[in-house]
Order: sequence, then C-alpha cells, then structure tokens
Amino acid sequence: MIIKSAEFKVSVASADKIPDLGLPEFAFVGRSNVGKSSLINALCNRSKLARTSSLPGRTRLINYFEINKEVMLVDLPGYGFAKASKIEQEKWQSLIGEYLMHNKNLKKVFVLLDIRHEPNEKDEDMINYLSYFNIPFVIVATKLDKIKPSQVVKQKQLLANKIGVGMDNIIVTSAELKKGLDKIWEIIKSE
Ligand code: GTP
Ligand code: MG
Repeated sequence: MIIKSAEFKVSVASADKIPDLGLPEFAFVGRSNVGKSSLINALCNRSKLARTSSLPGRTRLINYFEINKEVMLVDLPGYGFAKASKIEQEKWQSLIGEYLMHNKNLKKVFVLLDIRHEPNEKDEDMINYLSYFNIPFVIVATKLDKIKPSQVVKQKQLLANKIGVGMDNIIVTSAELKKGLDKIWEIIKSE
C-alpha cells in the first residue's frame, strides 16, 4: 500500500462526541500494550503518528487517522489496564462499546492479541461481543519478532484453539519488523 497521506484527524473522549467523518473506518482493539498504536504507525509508515508507550494505558481516547483521504484507521483505548481506576476502566469500556455498536462507517475490527500470550478473559469477552453483535472482525497476532521462528506455529495454534478460529484466519504481524502489514491492507482495500 502506498501511503500518500496519513493525518491525525480527531480525538474523542466521550460517546456523544463520536463523529461521522464520512469515510470507511477500520478499528484496532486489544489489551493495553498489545501494540495497537505501533501497528497503526507501521501500517502508515510513520513512527509517531499514533502515540505509543512501553507503559500500558497510553491511548485513553479514540483517535482517528485519515489515510490517503480514503479510509480511517481508528485507535481505540486498550482494555484491561490494571492500574486504571475502576471508574476509568468502566468509562473506556463504555466508550469502546458505544463506538463498536453505533457506527455505520465501521467496516472491520482488528482484534490484536500478543502472539506470546494465551488470550485472557477480556480478550474472549471482546471476541464474544463482536460475534454476538455480528460486527466483522479479524484476529491479528502482534509482536512476532518477540518469539523464535520455531515457536510461531505453536503460538498461532494456541491462539486459534482458545478463540475457536482456524489458524489460517490469524494474521501474524510485527510492527517492529514491518511484517504482515500487506495482509492487513489487503483486507482494508477489499472492503
Ligand atoms: P495502549 O495505548 O496502552 O492500549 O497500548 P497499545 O496497544 O497502543 O500499545 P503500543 O503500540 O503503545 O505498544 C506497547 C509497547 O509494545 C511499546 O513499547 C511498543 O514499542 C511495543 N511494541 C509494539 N509492537 C511491537 C512489535 O511488533 N514488536 C516489538 N518488539 N515491540 C512492539
Ligand atoms: Mg495505544
């Protein structure tokens, strides 16, 4: 994918401010620190478009990035950030829920899972939620560079078994090594 332009558009902190920007949206969800913002940067070939951090809980708002004036990549707050207060966590959860539920521009949700770890209850809740409401989603394993090549199949199998999808339905990526990005763009372009 040739990136001609990648522009931050708007940040949203509350459900009543969710905008209709008139372009198809592709959202990135996943546990805090899984690599959502890094993946968006890698996809856009920009290092600092979306803010990243080694500390979980970096993205607390919904951030919209307009690519080639054609599509919106939407960076959602991470779930399961243990250090946030319960009230804050509930606020993000309802923000994410509102975004996912009432959005005619939303075409696909990329659910990110760290390739090193078994999906937890929050990941399963997210996947069940998307399935229940018929919101189209794709599973993306992140941080491929963090495991040995010999471990890849085993870890993919672990994710696939836990969430009940075929191994072939999981896109494996590394923002660090810029791997798997074309597959994500292919999905976006096919919508
Ligand atoms: P929140 O905004 O807190 O929800 O986190 P996030 O999901 O946006 O994660 P972020 O992109 O900020 O990345 C978290 C940490 O993981 C950072 O230190 C990144 O550098 C690192 N990281 C992200 N992707 C990769 C990857 O593919 N490989 C490696 N090695 N590190 C990664
Ligand atoms: Mg982030």
